[in-house]
Amino acid sequence: MTGRAAYFTVQTRKIAKSGPVLGVETSCDETGVAVFCPERGLVAHTLYSQIRMHADYGGVVPELASRDHVRKLLPLIRETLAKAGMTTRDLGGVAYTAGPGLVGALLVGAACARALAWALEIPAIGVHHMEGHLLAPLLEADPPPPPFVALLVSGGHSMLVEVSAIGKYRLLGDTLDDAAGEAFDKTAKLMGLPYPGGPALAKLAESGTPNKFRFSRPMTDRPGLDFSFSGLKTQVLLAYQQHADETNAKADIARGFEDAIVETLLIKCRRALEQSGATRLVIAGGVGANRKLRAQLADVAQREGFRVYFPRLEFCTDNGAMIALAGALRLQAGQHDDAVIKVAPRWNLESLTALAHTR
Ligand code: KG4
Ligand code: ZN
Repeated sequence: MTGRAAYFTVQTRKIAKSGPVLGVETSCDETGVAVFCPERGLVAHTLYSQIRMHADYGGVVPELASRDHVRKLLPLIRETLAKAGMTTRDLGGVAYTAGPGLVGALLVGAACARALAWALEIPAIGVHHMEGHLLAPLLEADPPPPPFVALLVSGGHSMLVEVSAIGKYRLLGDTLDDAAGEAFDKTAKLMGLPYPGGPALAKLAESGTPNKFRFSRPMTDRPGLDFSFSGLKTQVLLAYQQHADETNAKADIARGFEDAIVETLLIKCRRALEQSGATRLVIAGGVGANRKLRAQLADVAQREGFRVYFPRLEFCTDNGAMIALAGALRLQAGQHDDAVIKVAPRWNLESLTALAHTR
C-alpha cells in the first residue's frame, strides 16, 4: 500500500495508540504551542504575543500577524518539545486551530501542523478556536463535568452556549454587533488607551469611582440572551467629550463602562442558567481574565448556589494548551481530519460533533 491510503492506515493505527498531542494556536495575534498528554495532562506550553508589534497600528494587522507566526512557530515548537523533554518522534498526534480567525494566520498553523503530522505519520485534527476556549477550564485540577452553560467572551465573540456533552453545543445567545472584548478594545481606543484596550481599560477602572458615570446594560430590559455592546462606546464617547477636563473623569468613565459590561454579562449568565436548568457555569475567552467579572461571578455563584469555573488567567486569552487539550480529546475519540490544509475563518460552533453520549 502506498501514498494516501497508506497514510490513513498509519493514522488509524496511531490513533489507537494515542500519545502526547502537540497543540498549535495561530488564529490571531498570539503564537501558542503546547504538549498535552491524555495520561499526564498538560506537559509544556509556550506563548509568543505579537501585541507589541500591532500596538504601533492600534490593532491587529492581519498580514503582519501571518508573517510573524511564520517566524515564531517553528522555534516555539522546538522550545515546547524541549520543555516537555520530548522529540517529535514521541508525539501521537497534532492539533491546530482551523478557525474561526484570520485566514492567513490560521493557514500558517494549519500548514505547519499538517506537514509535521504527514512527516511523522500521525493523525492531525483542526480544532474550533472557541471550543478550545470553552474547554480550557478542563486544564484545571477541578474540571467542570457537562452539562454546563459556557459564557465565551473574547475579542471576536460573546456567546452563551449550552454544553450537554463535550462537542454538543447549543447557542443560547450571541453577539449582535461588537463582542465584549471588541467593546473593551474600541472604547479604550477612543479614550486614548493603548492596544489591546481590555486590560488597559480594566486597570484604569480600578482607580475609578463607582456610579459617577452610569451607562446602560444593553438588552437586559427584555427577554433573550443575545448581546449588543456597540452602543456603549457611543455613550462613553459622549461622556468623555463632555467631562474630559474633570479630575479623574477618565478613570471614573472606565469604571462606569466596566461595571456596565460586567453587570450585563452577569444578568445574562443567570438568565441562561435559569433557562437551561444547569447548575454549572464556565467562563472562558480573553474577557474571562477580567478580575471584576471573575470576582462578581464568584460572589453571585456563592449566594445563588451555582458553581462557576474559570481557566487560570493565562489560559483565558489565546494559548496552545486549550488547542492541544481539545484536539487530544477528539483524537482520543477516534476523530481526525483528511490530509489537506484547510481552514475555516468562519465556523459555526453548533456544527461540531459530540464526543460522548448525551443526556
Ligand atoms: O480570547 P482572546 O485572547 O482572543 C480572541 O479570541 O479574540 O481575547 C482577547 C480579548 C481582547 O479584546 C482583550 O482586550 C480582552 O480579550 N481582554 C480583556 C482583559 N484581558 C483581555 N478584557 C477585559 N479585561 C481584561 N482583563
Ligand atoms: Zn481567542
